[in-house]
Amino acid sequence: MIGSINSGTHLPILMKLVSMTDGPILEVGGGLHSTPFLHWACYFDKRKLVTYENNPKYFGLIKGYNNDFHKVVFVDNWDEMPIERHWDIAFIDHAPAERRKKEITRLANFTKYVVVHDTEERKENEYGLKEIYPLFKYRYDFTEIIPHTSVLSNFIDFKNPKWIQPLDQEKLWDSLAQKNAKKYIDATFGDDITEEQFRKHGKEEYTNHIALDKILTSRETIVDWGSGIGRLTEFMSNDFKKAIALDISQTMIEKGKQRLQKENVEFVKFDGWTVPIQNDSIDIVFAFLVFQHCKSRGMVEASYEEIYRILKKGGIFKVLMTNKERESLSRWWAGVSYSPEEINNIYKPIGFTLKKMEYFDAKRYWLWLQK
Ligand SMILES: C[S@@+](CC[C@H](N)C(=O)[O-])C[C@H]1O[C@@H](n2cnc3c(N)ncnc32)[C@H](O)[C@@H]1O
Repeated sequence: MIGSINSGTHLPILMKLVSMTDGPILEVGGGLHSTPFLHWACYFDKRKLVTYENNPKYFGLIKGYNNDFHKVVFVDNWDEMPIERHWDIAFIDHAPAERRKKEITRLANFTKYVVVHDTEERKENEYGLKEIYPLFKYRYDFTEIIPHTSVLSNFIDFKNPKWIQPLDQEKLWDSLAQKNAKKYIDATFGDDITEEQFRKHGKEEYTNHIALDKILTSRETIVDWGSGIGRLTEFMSNDFKKAIALDISQTMIEKGKQRLQKENVEFVKFDGWTVPIQNDSIDIVFAFLVFQHCKSRGMVEASYEEIYRILKKGGIFKVLMTNKERESLSRWWAGVSYSPEEINNIYKPIGFTLKKMEYFDAKRYWLWLQK
């Protein structure tokens, strides 16, 4: 669809996908960003590209691109498009809004990557896309810029680390750990935070969120998920038989090992996708100030699955989530957000049951999930 400058927020994804593939491309609904980009990207190889439009005004603006490799076709009715055939990429950006799920459904089993624009939660009433997500095995949401863009596939698994990550979570936290680990772990005291302030506040937070928590009754094995340099792990190790400090950043882990040398503490490096911990072996997983910084929904959701796998039956996952809508994920602290309803749709199918939910502040909430 043709619109304002924001109608080009799908371009990073389209550009990446065009460079990763070489097969035919379908564009449903032309645009002043997507149509010229796709046209010139296909130019040298004469790659097959078909654009359909049904608004005469928009068609008038893009029909000049029609040539031997790029067919720009006017359709009175979207049903007339003969699109049920193989495509490497199908870009869905047409009107009226309720039509999008129809075309996505038609393409689900023919297309390697179905790219859909305007997929943020607040537009759900308009597009109703939740209905068609179950038609796909895999989904990747690009949420760095609004409007969001999602990629759906029955053929390509976006959890594969080779798939694009909007910002590299591991590199980001390695660089923050090198700059000033304590400050980025606990932002309360600014640049010059002392070890004493860091420990004292860590002890207070451990006491409030773990020691005094009536749901967290076990004192056997706890995982400090996103442990940093062990601010809370230290106090866990005083009360628990075993504390596992797990983090995505190798630098955080190394600094943690120097700070905390105790027999019942184990440090584990996490690649963001799979955890080197056995099934059914953990009593509590605790994640504080971690997922609110995570840039990738795929990573959050893979973590929920891994946490379920490693917990013992009856074990508890206590996690702080955020539901703050953010304009951009480029700031170090920004992360993906989930409304309580959205997160319910993630943890329930995995098998978790909700024991309790409580607001921590205006934009963040605790969940206690039980396996
Ligand atoms: C703000 S610090 C909080 C550390 C600790 N939870 C605390 O409260 O002291 C966030 C930590 O999470 C780690 N982290 C970021 N994303 C992560 C992810 N997806 N999985 C595991 N750790 C992650 C970072 O490397 C960092 O050490």
